[in-house]
Amino acid sequence: NFDPPYVFVVFGASGDLAKKKIYPTLWWLFRDNLLPNNVAFVGYARSDLTVDKLRSGFEKNCKVRDNEKDAFEDFIKKCSYIQGKYDDDEGFKKLKAFIDEYQATSNNQPVNRLYYLALPPNVFENVTTELRNNCMDNGDSWTRVIIEKPFGHDLKSSDHLSKHLSKLFKEDQMYRIDHYLGKEMVQNLMVLRFGNRIMAPSWNRDHIASVMISFKEDFGTGGRAGYFDTAGIIRDVMQNHLMQILTLVAMEKPASLDTENIRDEKVKVLKAIKPVELKDVVVGQYIANPDFNHPEAKHGYKDDEDVPKDSVTPTYALAVFHVHNERWEGVPFFMRCGKGLNEKKAEVRIQFKEVSGDIYPAGELKRTELVMRVNPDEAVYMKLMTKKPGMGFGVEETELDLTYNSRYKGTRLPDAYERLILEVFMGSQINFVRTDELEHAWRILTPVLDELEQKKIKPIEYKFGSRGPAEADELMKKHGFVFTG
Ligand code: BG6
Repeated sequence: NFDPPYVFVVFGASGDLAKKKIYPTLWWLFRDNLLPNNVAFVGYARSDLTVDKLRSGFEKNCKVRDNEKDAFEDFIKKCSYIQGKYDDDEGFKKLKAFIDEYQATSNNQPVNRLYYLALPPNVFENVTTELRNNCMDNGDSWTRVIIEKPFGHDLKSSDHLSKHLSKLFKEDQMYRIDHYLGKEMVQNLMVLRFGNRIMAPSWNRDHIASVMISFKEDFGTGGRAGYFDTAGIIRDVMQNHLMQILTLVAMEKPASLDTENIRDEKVKVLKAIKPVELKDVVVGQYIANPDFNHPEAKHGYKDDEDVPKDSVTPTYALAVFHVHNERWEGVPFFMRCGKGLNEKKAEVRIQFKEVSGDIYPAGELKRTELVMRVNPDEAVYMKLMTKKPGMGFGVEETELDLTYNSRYKGTRLPDAYERLILEVFMGSQINFVRTDELEHAWRILTPVLDELEQKKIKPIEYKFGSRGPAEADELMKKHGFVFTG
């Protein structure tokens, strides 16, 4: 086999993320023949495990069909396990020896290395330092390091981590995952905007009244309350997933599809946003609602044993942002996110201004809206006015509807992790977060997070399964959002 060899190392191989996401993703990519032939998957963790034990942890998440059983065994044959600590070099030396051996059995061709850090943040620095000291390529192949949030806790800690990483790796070796960038509809945003002539003339403050990016979940913190209480919803999804979507909605057209051209435009948007102020934020925390049909709804956020009884951590937040540039001055961008709400839905909603010179009876015309539903049930639809069909002359609101399930019925949409991991193999960083993007996202949110936490501002209680605090709707209305129903 003369294909170059690759190793994909999963640090934290026995953890939740590895079991639920990374191993299943590697299997699907392998099954679909999307990976190089000569690849070894190496699990690394502290526990005394074997490949068999690892397998029993992730197999159920791999959804192996009856006719794929042989292929799955082939996948398992490519898996190995190394037991090692995160804070001394013994395990990393074992890993190096494994890679050297792999090179020797691969016609001595230099091994390309992908290191996935599915690890808690307190070991990030040690592990990356050990990798640098022991496990890098010699310049005749490549090394790419994939890291998962949290990338710090605020601007200061994130800068500290970024400085540490940039001493060890070049920017083109670092792949900061934000899995929302791997979602079909998020990847579709640029095509919709820059691939359709009708969009450009109306995509600005003259025509758009507001942009809403919302993320709702109808479940609570699940078994993750311990982590969640140190983060809160603003760090968990707003600072990263929603902020990334905002940049794609608001950015100027890049000079080309080149990675750095795109990331440059995204950073310019972030630079034009001032830190959010407390007056432009509503935070909430869910309380029990036994009437809602979800097992978690019986307990409020603070009833979880991993959450302090006086926790002021928000499980819901609405924040209003303004992009101060020629295109967007005066247009509010709402980001709304929460757990324990009435539905699971993530979407981007562009609300257009009223028509000028309205000739219809007062109040009949509704604002046009363009909605991109990210999750679940991907769709793009436009709410428009139409004549009521039939003899009458009245108007009504309807949808031009591109629901993927009907239009692209039978087309499998890959999971976000599948796309992103494949992109790392291919060396494409378009959908990964550059250091300066991260820095600006924290710059915008750190002051308000500090204020909320230092003043111990109590989130508004909302019932599990509700729409969240009514105060959020009020703030949106104050900024001109019109609830069209
Ligand atoms: C994660 C958050 O980044 O995204 C979770 O930590 C959240 O709290 C998850 O549930 C949502 O991802 P998805 O793909 O299910 O919308």
